[in-house]
Amino acid sequence: MKTILFNPASIVTVNTSGKNFKRGKDLNDISCLYEHSIIIEDDLIKDLIPTQSIEKNNFDKTIDLKGKTILPGLVECHTHTAFAGSRANEFREKLAGIGYEEIAKKGGGINTTVQAVRSSSFEELINLIKPRIENFISQGITTLEIKSGYGLNFENERILLQVINFINEIFPIDIIPTFLGAHTFPNELKNDHNKYIDELINKMIPHFAEQNLAEFCDGFCEATAFSAEQIDEIFSAALSYGLKLKLHTEQFNAIGGLDVALKHNAVSVDHLEVISAEDIFKVCDSETVAVLLPGVSFFLNHQYAPARKLIEQNAIVALATDFNPGSSHIASLSLIMSLAALKMKMTIEETISAVTINSAKALCRQKSIGSIEIGKKADFAVFNTPDYSDIVYSVGSNLNFMTMKNGEVIYQI
Ligand code: NIG
Ligand code: FE
Repeated sequence: MKTILFNPASIVTVNTSGKNFKRGKDLNDISCLYEHSIIIEDDLIKDLIPTQSIEKNNFDKTIDLKGKTILPGLVECHTHTAFAGSRANEFREKLAGIGYEEIAKKGGGINTTVQAVRSSSFEELINLIKPRIENFISQGITTLEIKSGYGLNFENERILLQVINFINEIFPIDIIPTFLGAHTFPNELKNDHNKYIDELINKMIPHFAEQNLAEFCDGFCEATAFSAEQIDEIFSAALSYGLKLKLHTEQFNAIGGLDVALKHNAVSVDHLEVISAEDIFKVCDSETVAVLLPGVSFFLNHQYAPARKLIEQNAIVALATDFNPGSSHIASLSLIMSLAALKMKMTIEETISAVTINSAKALCRQKSIGSIEIGKKADFAVFNTPDYSDIVYSVGSNLNFMTMKNGEVIYQI
């Protein structure tokens, strides 16, 4: 099957010259091709050629994209989409001045959602999640990470991972499951942390890894959740079962999570709102991706991660929504790009690198997706504008016109 994406206004290739990620000042270089079209063969990018040299009859399918902008399919590398219930009441409390950590200490927060998940059936969870995936696809997202972390016992974490894997089967995009049993301690074990850690290490991690239910193991290193020592133990176990690592760290307190994550060569460190100026170089010296989540800072009215300093010192920076019911009830990746530009002073080009090739690296998929290069997957987000700046400038609007995954149109206005 030969398809041509014919005559777009521009193609934002995010070309990496074979490196497959962008570090420091390279984030600003996204390469734009004009007067070119894209040839797709089956599920792969076959060629990028001048539009005027094209013989339309040579293709099984021609998709006319006059006036549109083609980007690599967007990669959303950090979400908690598998949740039930609502935390609107806690949102009201936050609006009235009660802090996110304070709510967590009272046994609310993540544990409120745990109760809602535990009382939902497999089918109910699927029905809640389906429209969320459709929403992501409508934005041009072709690869999506989803964490567990609202079950917090063997049975319910397993159900969540099964739900995420099932959702991956029924949708055309790639959905990547992350085990986040170390999200916080369940209320019933709040006075017996060792028992929960024992369950994580000796039961959940071995079982879920052996059953291939998760690709990554994540944790939350925070005063209200797990200490650096506890994460160290959990990560050693996860690695020994072949899981790759991610860590929520330096969100409210810097308590050693960053060092532990880097010691274990974590694929990404996520949040970093309070990373100290002295610690920035550690991330920049590593291959670990810094996943920044400005939606959380916006939603919680909290400080933003030092994106400029990270980029100036050569970090591999990615962006994500962190879509979840408590700290970022925001499911729009283009809004996150706008927040990154307006609040963290990232350039428009940097935000594009951060939701394509660098977020692909945060999911270890950078060799096959994240840029428009010959031989990579034919995953595209096509925007209804000739100028890619509009994607970030149109704050809160979805300008996506068409989503293509593996060479197939999976969404079109
Ligand atoms: O990434 N930081 C911890 N976990 C989520 C919040 C989850 C929740 O509040 O439900 C986060 O911010
Ligand atoms: Fe998160």
